[in-house]
Amino acid sequence: MADVPPLSTDGLVQILFGSSAFQMLNAGCNLGLFALLDRQPDLTPEEIGRELGLEARPVQVLLLGTTALRLTARHSGRYRNAELLTGMFADGTWEIMEDLVAYEEQIVRPAEVDFTESLRANTNVGLRRIKGTGTDLYHRLSADPDLEQLFYRCMRSWSRLSNPILVEKADLTAVRRVLDVGGGDGVNAIALAQADPGAEFTILDLPGTVEIARRKIAEQGLADRITVQAADIFADTYPSGHDCVLFANQLVIWSPEENLALLRKAHQALPDGGRVVVFNAMSDDSGEGPLYAALDNVYFATLPAASSTIYRWGQYEEWFAAAGFAKVERLPGGRWTPHGVISAVK
Ligand SMILES: C[S@@+](CC[C@H](N)C(=O)[O-])C[C@H]1O[C@@H](n2cnc3c(N)ncnc32)[C@H](O)[C@@H]1O
Repeated sequence: MADVPPLSTDGLVQILFGSSAFQMLNAGCNLGLFALLDRQPDLTPEEIGRELGLEARPVQVLLLGTTALRLTARHSGRYRNAELLTGMFADGTWEIMEDLVAYEEQIVRPAEVDFTESLRANTNVGLRRIKGTGTDLYHRLSADPDLEQLFYRCMRSWSRLSNPILVEKADLTAVRRVLDVGGGDGVNAIALAQADPGAEFTILDLPGTVEIARRKIAEQGLADRITVQAADIFADTYPSGHDCVLFANQLVIWSPEENLALLRKAHQALPDGGRVVVFNAMSDDSGEGPLYAALDNVYFATLPAASSTIYRWGQYEEWFAAAGFAKVERLPGGRWTPHGVISAVK
C-alpha cells in the first residue's frame, strides 16, 4: 500500500479503544442523542441532559466521546450532529444504521470475544454464544424467536444498505425468471422486482424464513411475481425454469468447497446462456483491504458458519471457472461498503 501513511499513536488509540468507540455510537443511538440533535440541533449539555433524562456527568462523558469521534460537533458550547449523520437522517439511511448498530451490539459483540479462539481452531467458536443446536447461525435461530426476529430485521437493514448496488449493477433486463438462493426475507427480490417490472423470482430458504418472506412480499403486493419455496440449498434440487441464479450475501457464509458445490448446483439448474449472479462484500485481491471487509471478517470468522469469510474477487472467478461458467464480469459497487456484483454465464 504505497501511499498509505504509517500507523500513528492516534491510530493506535483508535484500535486499542475500538470497542469503546463503538459503545459511544451505541449509547448515542440507544439514549436518543443523535435523534434528538437531528430534531433540535445546537443544544447545550444542560438541554441535552433534560431531554434525554440524563445527569450532568453522563452527558459530559457521552458528548466528549461522540465529539472526539466526530459523530457530533461543538459550536459555541452547543452540540449538533456531524454533517454525515444529518445527511443520513435526511435520506433515511440513519434508520438502517441504527439496526446495524443493534446487530453489532446484540449479535456480533457477544460472539466476537471468541475471535482469537476461532482463528486458533479454524472454526466459528462464537456460535457457542447462540442458543440451540446446529453448526451454523441460521439453523440455531429457530430456537430463539426473539433473536430470530432481531436477526431478520437487521439482516434486512444490512441488505437495504447495500442492495441499491445489486439493483444498479445486476442488469436483469434480459432475464425472465430469477432463482434467489437463500433469499432470506425477500429484501433483494422485492427491490429487484420493483426496479424491473419484467422479471419473476423464486426464493429458496429455510422453512421459518420463507414464512417471513411470504409476509413481506404480500405487504408489497408482489405475491404474483415472487414465489417462495422452503428448501435446503445444499441437499435439495433447485427448481428448473430460471434463466438466472442469484446468490446474495450467501457465498460469504460457506467454505470454498461448499461455494463450489452451490455454484455447480446453479450450473445444473440453468439453461445454456443462463447467468449466475453473486452479490456480497468483497475483499481486494491484494489482501490489503478494504478496512470494512477486514473488520467485518471478525464477525464472519467467529459466528455464521465454520468457514465464513469475505472472500477476494479472484476467488469467485476461480470457483466460476471450476463450476463451468464463462464470461465473468466484475462490477464493484463504488460506494462506502465494499459490496459488488460478480456474474458469469453458462
Ligand atoms: C446472510 S442471509 C442472506 C439473506 C438474503 N439473501 C439477503 O441478502 O438479505 C443467508 C440466508 O441463507 C439462508 N440459509 C442458510 N443456510 C441455508 C440452507 N441450508 N438452506 C436454505 N437457506 C439457507 C438463511 O436462512 C438466510 O436467510
